Amino acid sequence: MTATNRRRVLLAKPRGYCAGVDRAVITVEKALEQYGAPIYVRKQIVHNTHVVRRMEERGAIFVEETTEVPEGAIVVFSAHGVSPMVHEEASRRQLKTIDATCPLVTKVHKEAKRFADQDRDIILIGHTGHEEVEGTSGEAPEHIQVVESPDEVDKVEVRNPDNVSWLSQTTLSVDETNQTVDALRERFPNLLDPPSDDICYATSNRQDAVKEMSAQCDLVLVVGSDNSSNSVRLVEVALDAGATAAHLIDDASLMEESWLAGVETVGVTSGASVPDLLVQELLDRLAEHGFGDVEDVETAEENLTFSLPKELRKDLRIEP
Ligand code: F3S
Repeated sequence: MTATNRRRVLLAKPRGYCAGVDRAVITVEKALEQYGAPIYVRKQIVHNTHVVRRMEERGAIFVEETTEVPEGAIVVFSAHGVSPMVHEEASRRQLKTIDATCPLVTKVHKEAKRFADQDRDIILIGHTGHEEVEGTSGEAPEHIQVVESPDEVDKVEVRNPDNVSWLSQTTLSVDETNQTVDALRERFPNLLDPPSDDICYATSNRQDAVKEMSAQCDLVLVVGSDNSSNSVRLVEVALDAGATAAHLIDDASLMEESWLAGVETVGVTSGASVPDLLVQELLDRLAEHGFGDVEDVETAEENLTFSLPKELRKDLRIEP
């Protein structure tokens, strides 16, 4: 490091919890308070290792499928949404369900149903195997095919090229999704768009903040888990926007000191399922290495909140 080095941190704002994650986390916490442990949760309630571990300590039991939940028990569905088949299975097993699906994912499910009712072929842009994609596809499996990237557009086969719509997972890269839509529209000029963006406000706001700061950063650190789609996208966006290096880390302990060699500006952000405490711990660790000067890079204000799932509101006697 030279004497002219000015070590600083650029801190993205917004970052961390979105309204859907906040609601899902509070749902499990309130369910534990109201009904007592154990509360079963299908899949990780949100894609963050720390959040899941904290809930396990409080009595949540995470399962992969509702078949693992004892008959009559309470099960919470995660923020990523479930297909109608999962609801049917839960009802067959007489489970009490609390659906913490993010309302912005539910919106995409409704669009899928509506396009399927119009007998359209639906191209769902998203990652095969991701829970959200499985849930949305389950609304109309005979109409939906999944495309991951512009490169896959050529393999799409439809019944009528003039009767095709597209939808997307909520947590994708905005830029790459636009490229995929452009490629689709080239093949299907009458391609019908969803009524509003499927990539959610939180995903695009976090990407905008990272874009804004990355060109000034020698290193960008994204706090998030590697199964978190929106967190992984933030690393890609940082590199595309000019960061010299970018890493995804679950928490501060995973930051390698060697990454800081020769670095003047570190960008910090976090995925939509990450509690801010984990970011604060990273800032503390960076301060120990001389990066105590922190500047906010704010690109949007967020005030959105969602009310708790109706099943829970009823039992908590919260007015709708
Ligand atoms: Fe919902 Fe977007 Fe968060 S879809 S769960 S607000 S990342």
